[in-house]
Amino acid sequence: MTNPVRISVIGLGRVFERYALVLEPLVRSGRAEVVAVYDPAADRSSVAATLFPGVYIAGSAEEVIASDADAVLVLTSMNEHGALTAAAYQAGKHVLVEKPMATSLGEAAALVRMSHESDRLMVCAPHVLLSPTYREMHARLSRGEIGDVKLARALYGWAGPWWGEWFYQPGGGALFDLGVYNVTSLCGFLGPVKRVTALVGTAVKERLVNGELMSVTADDNAQVLLDFGNEVYASVATGFTIQKYGRAPAIELYGLAGSMNMLGDDWAPRGFEVWRSDTGYWELHDEQAPDWPWTDGLNHLVSCIERGVPSVTRPEHAYHALEVMLAAMQSATEGRVVDIASAFPSPDYSHEASFVMDERRKHDTSL
Ligand SMILES: NC(=O)c1ccc[n+]([C@@H]2O[C@H](COP(=O)([O-])OP(=O)(O)OC[C@H]3O[C@@H](n4cnc5c(N)ncnc54)[C@H](O)[C@@H]3O)[C@@H](O)[C@H]2O)c1
Repeated sequence: MTNPVRISVIGLGRVFERYALVLEPLVRSGRAEVVAVYDPAADRSSVAATLFPGVYIAGSAEEVIASDADAVLVLTSMNEHGALTAAAYQAGKHVLVEKPMATSLGEAAALVRMSHESDRLMVCAPHVLLSPTYREMHARLSRGEIGDVKLARALYGWAGPWWGEWFYQPGGGALFDLGVYNVTSLCGFLGPVKRVTALVGTAVKERLVNGELMSVTADDNAQVLLDFGNEVYASVATGFTIQKYGRAPAIELYGLAGSMNMLGDDWAPRGFEVWRSDTGYWELHDEQAPDWPWTDGLNHLVSCIERGVPSVTRPEHAYHALEVMLAAMQSATEGRVVDIASAFPSPDYSHEASFVMDERRKHDTSL
């Protein structure tokens, strides 16, 4: 039995409560300890104190970073991610950062550079590449089950948050909050994007947030075209402008020998289906892990620290997703195609032990 991984948390909003559902069983099974937490909003600190009785409530993010934790979770609003992740990482901590890893390419590039110079892990959300359904689809695509994929389509949206003004201000927006899932998933399947064309706008100019009407100054509606090179094209439809869907797959992949769909959402897959030219019928694969939590990056971080293995995705993947989203905004503003400079390594699924669901966790996690 290894020592528990000591974890501190910065940002105790709604998402913290979801991470807590994964953290609590890790603590209960002796694999993790919660060292210190911080949020400037006092009511959020009391939520943490209720969830983790006796936890040290720090007076600042700096104090959390200076704590003797092994790892820091950065779960704040998006504009804070880059600076807090850099500070925690520079202090020698492993870091898990919610998406996007930063809101500017300069900050994100600094994070990638730091990750090259350190043996600490930097696990960046979204974590869907860890899900059993994604991994199964990825393996089948790699085996050529539907041939070379040439077209793909991804969709994710909802009516939008009624909390957190920052979602609707610069540094927020639907692309960073929602489109990031589709972009990350498609890139995991198809590799780096080469060029981007997009329509991105603000469809709903005023929103009721925390009971107050506010002007929206971030994007809430986007159609993005991705060119992966070699005539491989994909589209992403995303926005806080979608009231309901459910009959359209999250991800559709069209290969020259068949088709494959991820059902549900690409942050909460509900199985997948495959059609192959040589069989001529749809095979439905029910979700094998309906309890898979979209916060699984935390289990992954702890497993990787315990076993001393690298994470499945590298920070370069999150950087690339950010570059693609910023390029989409630039394309929409300037009315032109924007080239993408970055690339990233393929997901590394070779360290099975780092992401196979722990037996205890299967029983403990009830998301
Ligand atoms: N809400 C969702 O459904 C959802 C799902 C997945 C991921 N996310 C991501 O999780 C992150 C947080 O989202 P949320 O819904 O929890 O937002 P939220 O507004 O509920 O919480 C954010 C919290 O961060 C705190 N904060 C802001 N600056 C801080 C700082 N410098 N130091 C410490 N705390 C600070 C705020 O006080 C707030 O309590 C975002 O990046 C979001 O994109 C959200």
